[in-house]
Amino acid sequence: MKTLADFDWRGKIAIIRADLNVPQTANGEVADDTRLVAASGSVRTILNGGGGVVLLSHLGRPQEGKIEKEFSLESIVPAFSLLLQHPIRFAPTLENAGPAVGEVLLLENTRFNVGEKNDDGNLARRYAALGDIFVMDAFASAHRAEASVTGLARCGLPVCAGGLVEAELNGLTRIVGQIERPLVGIFGGAKISTKLAVLQHMAELCDTLLIGGGMANTLLLAQGYNVGASLVQEDMQAEAQAVLSATQGRLVLPQDVVIQTADGTAGQQCTLEQINRGDVILDIGSASSQHYSAIIKQAKTILWNGPVGLFEQEPYAAGTNAIAHAVATAPAYSLVGGADTIAAVRAAEVTEQINYISTGGGALLEYLAGKTLPGLVALGA
Ligand code: 3PG
Repeated sequence: MKTLADFDWRGKIAIIRADLNVPQTANGEVADDTRLVAASGSVRTILNGGGGVVLLSHLGRPQEGKIEKEFSLESIVPAFSLLLQHPIRFAPTLENAGPAVGEVLLLENTRFNVGEKNDDGNLARRYAALGDIFVMDAFASAHRAEASVTGLARCGLPVCAGGLVEAELNGLTRIVGQIERPLVGIFGGAKISTKLAVLQHMAELCDTLLIGGGMANTLLLAQGYNVGASLVQEDMQAEAQAVLSATQGRLVLPQDVVIQTADGTAGQQCTLEQINRGDVILDIGSASSQHYSAIIKQAKTILWNGPVGLFEQEPYAAGTNAIAHAVATAPAYSLVGGADTIAAVRAAEVTEQINYISTGGGALLEYLAGKTLPGLVALGA
């Protein structure tokens, strides 16, 4: 796989596929600039190397062929140019859009273009005509076979990974490749169905899997526990059983929990045996937090995806907060991914102590499930 360092950028125009799909406020401002910060590194490298940049990205999921103002990438120009400390020229259409050396040009949302979603070769060639070298830097879109991702890579231009994709792959190699053991995986989130493939694949790689969140309820039910009125996927019992038997002795479930009782009392600690009909599990309990933290402390490598409780609500934040602090202070390499998990790390104010925070959402889950990501294949990664 080639990287930015393999090219002399003097006089060259880079077409960068970035992932600028940022969350926005109700009035269209950038609500969280994590992805802009992540994308800025490659832009700077190319400008400093004497080149020019065309940026391609999608924003949201607009209807193809329809220009919907709420999905216009023009809305990110003020925040992104401030961050880059460099002006950004916005191009609403592909026509006459070619940039000059030293310039940063941002094209309108790729998903407004007919052919983007189905990886149309003609559209990809129109993108390719805008520059000299294709830089794939959208790790979070690497699971999408779209014209600006895989199509562009087929157009005959030299292709390389941007700095963000390179950093993501370096981090992920430590989780799925050259693993320093023990590798502890912490998995949470509401539904086991959305992470089943990840659990199945990571079960083969992790020495220990710590489980929390709603998905733990489905596994507890499969073990025969009464989970009261908690969120549970009863239709996933066979899959839950299969995960339990594939991970015997390596998968850890909460031994106590924090519930909202049937009469609405919030934040009650109880053991699994004390759960009554109508109780709702909303966090792991304090004994489980201590147990999980002790295991995390022994790890050499940590992967964390998904909060272990409803951390947005104060009575149910302690478990996730404890995990965040345990991960941050463990003498291990730590990789954290997923929007909710990143929010939890921020809430615990330990972001700086995490070794790598992935920008990938769905792409990260597919990678951790062992799937082939077309955007990475296109790079020869
Ligand atoms: C993401 O937010 O995970 C990426 O930008 C991909 O977005 P998509 O799921 O709309 O392709």
